[in-house]
Amino acid sequence: MAAVQIRGVEKYFGATHVIRGVNIDIEDGQFTVLVGPSGCGKSTLLRMIAGLEEIGGGEILIGGKVVNNMMPKERDIAMVFQNYALYPHMTVRNNLAFSLMLAKQSKAMADERVMKAADILGLVDLLDRFPRQLSGGQRQRVAMGRAIVRDPQVFLFDEPLSNLDAQLRVQMRTEIKELHQRLETTSIYVTHDQIEAMTMADKIVVMRDGIVEQTGSPLELYDRPVNRFVAGFIGSPAMNFLPGVLKRSAGAATVEFRDGLSLPAPIHAGGQDGQKVIYGTRPEHIDLADAGDGVATVVLVVEPTGADTQIFTKIAGVEVTSVFRERHAFKPGETIRLRPDPARAHLFDAASGMRLAG
Ligand SMILES: Nc1ncnc2c1ncn2[C@@H]1O[C@H](COP(=O)(O)OP(=O)(O)OP(=O)(O)O)[C@@H](O)[C@H]1O
Ligand SMILES: [Mg+2]
Repeated sequence: MAAVQIRGVEKYFGATHVIRGVNIDIEDGQFTVLVGPSGCGKSTLLRMIAGLEEIGGGEILIGGKVVNNMMPKERDIAMVFQNYALYPHMTVRNNLAFSLMLAKQSKAMADERVMKAADILGLVDLLDRFPRQLSGGQRQRVAMGRAIVRDPQVFLFDEPLSNLDAQLRVQMRTEIKELHQRLETTSIYVTHDQIEAMTMADKIVVMRDGIVEQTGSPLELYDRPVNRFVAGFIGSPAMNFLPGVLKRSAGAATVEFRDGLSLPAPIHAGGQDGQKVIYGTRPEHIDLADAGDGVATVVLVVEPTGADTQIFTKIAGVEVTSVFRERHAFKPGETIRLRPDPARAHLFDAASGMRLAG
């Protein structure tokens, strides 16, 4: 196991600057998830850690050693990809043992490591099968087994679950997490699925356009996103954003929206009187309100999911999603009053998108 440090790392593909001064500190044994929209540079960064892409600037350290000029096989890392190409003509046993054979490990040592990995991953009964005789989830487990047998200092995962169906993804997510709790190997996991990030990570790194927007624990990012981008990326359904103007008067702060609507400003929010702002509220932090409280809105759509009810309405011209644990049978066109919790609402500067903290 080893800590990983990424210091001022840059990458150009020709004239395109795809990684732009990235700094990330990953502690020994930590499970870190890199998230961000397609094309933001997640795979490129992971491949630089693995040694599959040259580093165009800055330094990467694994276990305190600069690895910039080390070959992939000298870095003591194992990578699991989205397209886990198993060797089709080899049994599960030989797929697992292959890298150990290449590394000229003794047969006894290879057998022992293969049995241990197979045991951890529930593959013992499948060792003599060929990949074509396995389900998608079983194949993915073999791909992970190939990484485990090498007992590396660091695991790198690049969207390992994206080829699996929804149910299997959830199951494998739990398996990978359990595996990490058991082995405690430093892991860096790339995904663009923020639910995967929230549920698996000790630490999340949110990237956009080759830079790091925010780093923190899942709940830090959920509670205190540094800007509108992170606020909209973390959480599902996504946070609602209402453009408005902040009004401060003696002892009171409100945000005024279009159509003469207004709400109390989020508690502890900063910002100056007259500033153009974006008011953010998560769907799960909105309550129904009595007459005289909250804002009046017209129901567009009601979606009962069984576990909860999602209600889509329009406030000041913006579509707003709210989620209720209770069942509600509102009709489209009906007027209801909604009240976002001011203690859990967020405020951002309209121009820069930055959080306005008190
Ligand atoms: N070999 C290459 N040559 C030129 N440009 C590349 C190359 N590989 C990646 N890029 C560009 O670098 C940027 C980052 O790509 P990367 O694959 O790291 O994104 P990603 O965050 O992993 O996206 P996704 O979620 O779609 O996998 C993209 O704009 C991509 O087009
Ligand atoms: Mg990628």
